[in-house]
Amino acid sequence: MQILSMPQGDFSLQRYPVRPRETLRAWDAADEYLLQQLADEALPAKDSRVLIVNDNFGALSVALHPHQPTLISDSWLAHRATLNNLKENKLPPDGISLLDALSPPQGQFDLVLIRVPKSLAMLEDQLTRLRPHLHTESRILAAGMAKHIHTSTLKLFAQCLGTTTTSLARKKARLILTRFDPQLSPATDKYPSGYLLDSPLLDSPLSNSSLSNRPVSDSRGKESGGRANQQQYQVTNHAGVFSRDSLDIGTRFFLQHLPASLDEKHIIDLACGNGVVGLIAAERNPNARLTFVDESFMAVESARLNFNTAFGADTHKAKFQATDCLHGIAPNSADLILNNPPFHQQNVVGDFIARQMFRESKRVLRRGGDLLVVGNRHLGYHIMLKKLFGNCEVVASNKKFVILSARKA
Ligand SMILES: C[S@@+](CC[C@H](N)C(=O)[O-])C[C@H]1O[C@@H](n2cnc3c(N)ncnc32)[C@H](O)[C@@H]1O
Repeated sequence: MQILSMPQGDFSLQRYPVRPRETLRAWDAADEYLLQQLADEALPAKDSRVLIVNDNFGALSVALHPHQPTLISDSWLAHRATLNNLKENKLPPDGISLLDALSPPQGQFDLVLIRVPKSLAMLEDQLTRLRPHLHTESRILAAGMAKHIHTSTLKLFAQCLGTTTTSLARKKARLILTRFDPQLSPATDKYPSGYLLDSPLLDSPLSNSSLSNRPVSDSRGKESGGRANQQQYQVTNHAGVFSRDSLDIGTRFFLQHLPASLDEKHIIDLACGNGVVGLIAAERNPNARLTFVDESFMAVESARLNFNTAFGADTHKAKFQATDCLHGIAPNSADLILNNPPFHQQNVVGDFIARQMFRESKRVLRRGGDLLVVGNRHLGYHIMLKKLFGNCEVVASNKKFVILSARKA
């Protein structure tokens, strides 16, 4: 636990998930810059309605707690970190309103603080959604590390909201100052966007190929003009979702090797993104139950939309949950876990999330259940899996990717 000392007070903050020997702080120089700027300008004014967008671990929300801010974040981890940090500072959790990035806030805001997200698409979507909640006197201050603020970032603020300037960099952080222009008529929100997914041909030693390309009923998708029995699915992605405009090549390789004919088994699409992995697993295993999990609310909603468009909303067949890895999923409950792990969490790159996902998979798999992982060849996942499960097989590999399988003994 580390202490953030600002004019607003001293706050004890930590990241979520809490890791032993954590060296990273739960705030950065951009949070400090923003809070200092507010103090210098004596903001927020009394009775102001305050909106915070993309607070990473709750530093801004905790410091501005007396103003009962609304926090919008697409990240389940950010929600959880904020709630934990409020508790740690003995502040009541109901003092702030927590919203995911798809839920519109109520009314208009006098002060809007934005942590600039890494994805420009996400920023564009968020700024477009923000417009109806601003008035001519709304103050809009955004902040980020200078390396994440580009000309294109500033252009987006100007196009979506109004005249935009930046501050000098301080400790490598920058502020963006925008004056809301109600006369501006920006383009309508481009998101969600999508693509058509051709059900890939199965190419797996684990599979039963007689079931793999089984045609599905009309409601699930159109027959494409290509190979016989090949299905085509409409894939829709909210702005923050991984590989939003086209199928990722690692995922494409994974889809070609998903097992079939698993009967009434429970399959988890872990780190589901838009859910295409679980969707093709469901096509190949019509009697299986699916659970889709991701820490991004937009990802989980995209997965829900894509699954329901393909197969209809059937709550017995599929569940959708925003969570950290497999937090909250019952132990010994899954027969197969499918995983294309992320290699970064917010701005931190590393294999620590993959490690956590593999560890939690072992807990959630039944005995004899399999974890199937796709990853870049160089990532060394086979060493981690072998150590954890005591076994690991290569299911398939190409020049770039490898698909590995580990069984819970
Ligand atoms: C490489 S993408 C894979 C998406 C999808 N399965 C595919 O193959 O197209 C990794 C996903 O992991 C999610 N993610 C990152 N950290 C996570 C965490 N701690 N718990 C659950 N999901 C996480 C990201 O939001 C992202 O959707």
